[in-house]
Amino acid sequence: MKPIPYVDLAAQFAAERGVLERRIASVLSEGQWIGGAQVDALERRIAARLGCAHTVAVGSGTDALVLAMKALDIGPGDEVITPPNSFVASTAAIVHTGATPVFADVLDDQTIDPAKVEQAITSRTRAIMPVHLSGRTARMPELLAIAKAHGLRVVEDAAQAFGSQQGGRATGTFGDVGCFSAHPLKNLNAMGDAGFVATDDDAVAGRIRRLRNNGLFDRNTVVEWGTVSRLDTLQAVILDHRLDGLDEVIARRRANAARYRALLDPSLVFHPASRPGDFDTFHTFVVQVDRRDALQRFLADRGIGTSIHYPVPIHLQPAAGALGHMPGDFPVTERQAGRILSLPIHQFLDDDDITRVVASLHEFLRC
Ligand SMILES: Cc1ncc(COP(=O)(O)O)c(C=O)c1O
Repeated sequence: MKPIPYVDLAAQFAAERGVLERRIASVLSEGQWIGGAQVDALERRIAARLGCAHTVAVGSGTDALVLAMKALDIGPGDEVITPPNSFVASTAAIVHTGATPVFADVLDDQTIDPAKVEQAITSRTRAIMPVHLSGRTARMPELLAIAKAHGLRVVEDAAQAFGSQQGGRATGTFGDVGCFSAHPLKNLNAMGDAGFVATDDDAVAGRIRRLRNNGLFDRNTVVEWGTVSRLDTLQAVILDHRLDGLDEVIARRRANAARYRALLDPSLVFHPASRPGDFDTFHTFVVQVDRRDALQRFLADRGIGTSIHYPVPIHLQPAAGALGHMPGDFPVTERQAGRILSLPIHQFLDDDDITRVVASLHEFLRC
């Protein structure tokens, strides 16, 4: 039986090899290897697609979060509310600004619970960082209303959600800043690390541009201490090429998700429905099941690759020890951490592959 890998980056490269090799060779021979016109053009293209005034390309999604928060003057003494079920980078970015992460538990669909956010607000809260996990947009109208009522900034972690929308508006453009990752495993993926920040705020965009380049105002003037987080020109041309095919990638993922939803037995497998008005891009397709670890092994024995995003909640990570959390603090996140399983959803799967995954899943869960 042919294996069904969880991801297939080799297949992606095989399909685009000719074009990419030409574009990469041209960057190499032009000799502009960091930043430059190709990066500027990519930033404009992404901003136009998102419908925001600026995007600033940076070295990774993690840097996008750190630099965006620094540009909003979030730092020591501040608290930022975020969910504990994300990839660790969301929380790590808050810690790197000097601010303190404060967790709020999530809903059945793994997005942050607005009611829990409201309960977590203190006099030190400066921002809310929702995470659009798996490409599913958090409840932005409720979160924006809470932020407005309490004078808080909104930093969207849209690392997994480029192309997603809510009510026709691009995910990542609701808050003060939206932070995206173009890590190789994302739907829009570079061949290395890359990320970008989206914002309508001219001053914030200008400050991130400075911070990503050592804080330099011009060649010889440093107005504040920055870092180095510029986008490689090679990654810019790769992303520019992949943007051409992104809608097709998203359409394939959505078709795969629709097939899963049609075939999966809801009495055995929980997969939260998309909410009305949401356009999900399915960076991951996450189901919640009993006996998850045994199921994952069973699928692996049949050549079916799966993943878990994420098995250990952030508040229970060793690095979070100083925050003083205990098992039981965020029960929804903790319960989900033992039940979630990401099924293969990539664009190179066909209908038969999805049917086989579902059949194997049902075979295991029915016995
Ligand atoms: C939710 C979330 N936030 C932040 C990041 C960090 O992005 P990067 O790996 O590009 O630094 C990721 C990447 O995996 C992510 O999934």
